[in-house]
Amino acid sequence: MERKWWKESVVYQVYWRSFYDSDGDGYGDLRGVIEKLDYIRSLGVDVIWLNPFYVSPDKDNGYDISDYYSVMPKAGTMQDFEELLMEAHKRGLKVIMDLVVNHTSNEHAWFKESKSSIDNPKRDWYIWRDGKQHQPPNNWRSYFCPSSWEYDEVTEQYYFHSFAVEQPDLNWKNEDVREEIYKMMHFWLQKGINGFRLDAIALLGKPEEYLDAENPYDIRYLTNNPGVHDYLHEMNRKVFSYYDALTVGEVAFVTPEEGLLYVDEARNELNTLFHFEVCDEMPTWDLQRFKEIQKHWYEGLGGKGWNSQFLNNHDHTRLVTRYGNDLEYRIESAKLFAAMLHSLPGIPYIYQGEEIGMTGVRFNSINDYNDISMKNKFNELVENGQDPEDVLKLLQPLSRDNSRTPMHWNDGRCAGFTTGKPWININPNYQNINIEKALQDNDSIFYFYKKLITLRKNHLVFIYGDFQPILEEKDELYAYLRTYQNETLLFIGNFSERKLPVEYNLSGADLLISNYKGIEELNILRPYEARLYLIENV
Ligand code: GLC
Repeated sequence: MERKWWKESVVYQVYWRSFYDSDGDGYGDLRGVIEKLDYIRSLGVDVIWLNPFYVSPDKDNGYDISDYYSVMPKAGTMQDFEELLMEAHKRGLKVIMDLVVNHTSNEHAWFKESKSSIDNPKRDWYIWRDGKQHQPPNNWRSYFCPSSWEYDEVTEQYYFHSFAVEQPDLNWKNEDVREEIYKMMHFWLQKGINGFRLDAIALLGKPEEYLDAENPYDIRYLTNNPGVHDYLHEMNRKVFSYYDALTVGEVAFVTPEEGLLYVDEARNELNTLFHFEVCDEMPTWDLQRFKEIQKHWYEGLGGKGWNSQFLNNHDHTRLVTRYGNDLEYRIESAKLFAAMLHSLPGIPYIYQGEEIGMTGVRFNSINDYNDISMKNKFNELVENGQDPEDVLKLLQPLSRDNSRTPMHWNDGRCAGFTTGKPWININPNYQNINIEKALQDNDSIFYFYKKLITLRKNHLVFIYGDFQPILEEKDELYAYLRTYQNETLLFIGNFSERKLPVEYNLSGADLLISNYKGIEELNILRPYEARLYLIENV
């Protein structure tokens, strides 16, 4: 496939409100990101993805936008953002922003107008329907609520929301809406940003008719409805085609065949996508399933579209807790997953703190949690009569707050994140797991990531190599070859807590990196051992 800068990039996700607080108000902010740019740069990454910092009532941590053209005061000012962009660019770092255009906040001026009366010119900018005998138009649930419809007493109709009640969906069928969004996208691209992560983008299309779902709990009906590809194609033509930007879509509930429609280079929609076959459908580690997913996506994209690789983000519990072992083998398992993610086909994304092996959390009370999706679910189940203690335990492992606790900069007060009171509790293990400590230890997870990123830069096989799984029948072992021009890369990883033999000839291969000091036995992998080899082809 054609060489492109974004294919050769590693992306670092900055959840700014939990990154670094420069002014002591308890929230991370854009100036905090500026202060830490040298740290980010030192890891060797190429692109920063910033979570939304537009003006927002902040019901869903910035994903409910009430003004697309200004910066939320908690994050800072437009001047801070411009400085951040300039300072990032000075260091060779590109910046992509979150684009949240499936919905706005209910406090956005457009929605206020839309809501004001049935014949308001902006009525059609959102999705309004009559109810059915005093009930919502259909039985659909939303991501965050028991119904995706909310009744408005003034105009006596319901509006549609795929997420929280405070996040009404825009009506993409309306051309004025689309033009207004494209205008806003140009505004940010003209400022010099390098692309967008497109939030919930598979939800832009809506059905012709809102029929009842057979099983309302299977919310796939919210995504991949007709129209989405027309809109993305138009967005590409009217916006992306004018810039050399990275566009990565959040595309839930797609098969590789459907995913290809979003990223096929010949179709001119998006560059790449996050699919959620792993994070949404694999609550705990399942290597056989993971192998199938990787193979299926590699074949499905078939050299026509580019993949993305990640195992956690601000919505998904930290990978070492969810998929590795965050106690005895925290360091080994964090490095194993890193070696795999950086050698599979696709762009690797690092979620802040992943590079030091930060872990998930368990807070003792629902009041310590902030995540609107968890809180709504908690209330729903408790109102239905379930025991609050049981519900808390049920929701803890996958609560989005697992990955939203502040970064651990050092072992001082509040982990060096803030001089004030942090907006969410700090993970109590910060004295053991923090950046200062990681930077003093040559063998830390941090330096392992840094080395992997350097290897990617020095060997194009990491990026453009084809992908061939081997030893596939082994339950606890993952191994694959990647070949490009005269180099072959071999990844082998032991996903178990016992020693495993590797029946493969390793004698002629050069070891590039491994997560244990030295090799004990060439053909035996220790618990969570990972190795990457390079084989020169003659
Ligand atoms: C995406 C975001 C998530 C947000 C939701 C609604 O899934 O990643 O954090 O809550 O969209 O915008």
